[in-house]
Amino acid sequence: MPNTVLITGSSTGIGKETALYFYKKGWNVVATMRNPDKRKTELHETKMDIVHLDVLEINSIKKAIRYTLDKFGKIDVFVNNAGYAVRGAFELSTREQIEKQYNTNVLGLMDAVREIIPIFRKQKHGIIINVASIGGRITVPFYSIYNSTKWAIEGFSEGLHYELKPFNIKVKIIEPGLIKTDFYDRSMVNIQNEEIDVYNKYFEKSLKKTMAMEPSASHPSLIAKIIYKAATDNRGKLRYSKGKNSWLVLFLRKILPDTLFFKIIKAST
Ligand SMILES: NC(=O)c1ccc[n+]([C@@H]2O[C@H](COP(=O)([O-])OP(=O)(O)OC[C@H]3O[C@@H](n4cnc5c(N)ncnc54)[C@H](OP(=O)(O)O)[C@@H]3O)[C@@H](O)[C@H]2O)c1
Repeated sequence: MPNTVLITGSSTGIGKETALYFYKKGWNVVATMRNPDKRKTELHETKMDIVHLDVLEINSIKKAIRYTLDKFGKIDVFVNNAGYAVRGAFELSTREQIEKQYNTNVLGLMDAVREIIPIFRKQKHGIIINVASIGGRITVPFYSIYNSTKWAIEGFSEGLHYELKPFNIKVKIIEPGLIKTDFYDRSMVNIQNEEIDVYNKYFEKSLKKTMAMEPSASHPSLIAKIIYKAATDNRGKLRYSKGKNSWLVLFLRKILPDTLFFKIIKAST
């Protein structure tokens, strides 16, 4: 019997490529998205199941899980991929922007995990794959809110992996580097405040430097492959980092004292 995977945020980018990759490997794929009827994607050209799931609506998470179990009898892997970033100076942000960012990236992910654990426990197996970011291990200016959500996913997943091990449930963290998706365009929420301009110069300089890195961004299929590896390698490994120069950045983070590492980040962002 083929394995079954359920993926959140499959309309574009990493989620879409992951759905396609598992599908081509012969898995039962339930690709979920906020607007499955409005947004026509490559996935709609296949026979895979496309189901509504908004991580801000817990009922839609329950329904998508129920749909998958009714159709395929089990879920082997649950990929928490849905997410976006709020970008800009923290001082200028609003509570609403932060709440939505946390509700989506952290609490929505936790809601999904809380729903899937009892299923995996009854099955006596299952793999939870949480998409964090290299920005969950390091930080860059003007992404403090987003970075903090990804650091939260890192801490949550690491703690959870101990708790679930006795039930043969694995937790995996995916840490993409710079990936070419809708993330930096339509999915990005820019913090704006016309009255305070003290951050403008630094923000624009930093943005320019980040944009200059764009050509080196990797295709999302790179992350789809690493998610597949995490789902199938049969290892207890927790973290999977991938993206151009990600290994170097994480290596430097590990070996350098904070002061030196921060200088490098400051010079390149
Ligand atoms: N691209 C990068 O460089 C990068 C690097 C590190 C980590 N990541 C992480 O990778 C994940 C995927 O991002 P991406 O790069 O593939 O960007 P993307 O192309 O913008 O995809 C983001 C996906 O999340 C979905 N989403 C947003 N809010 C949602 C909600 N409330 N409920 C359900 N789905 C929701 C979007 O759905 P709609 O189509 O409905 O908007 C979209 O399918 C994110 O968690 C992101 O933080 C990306």
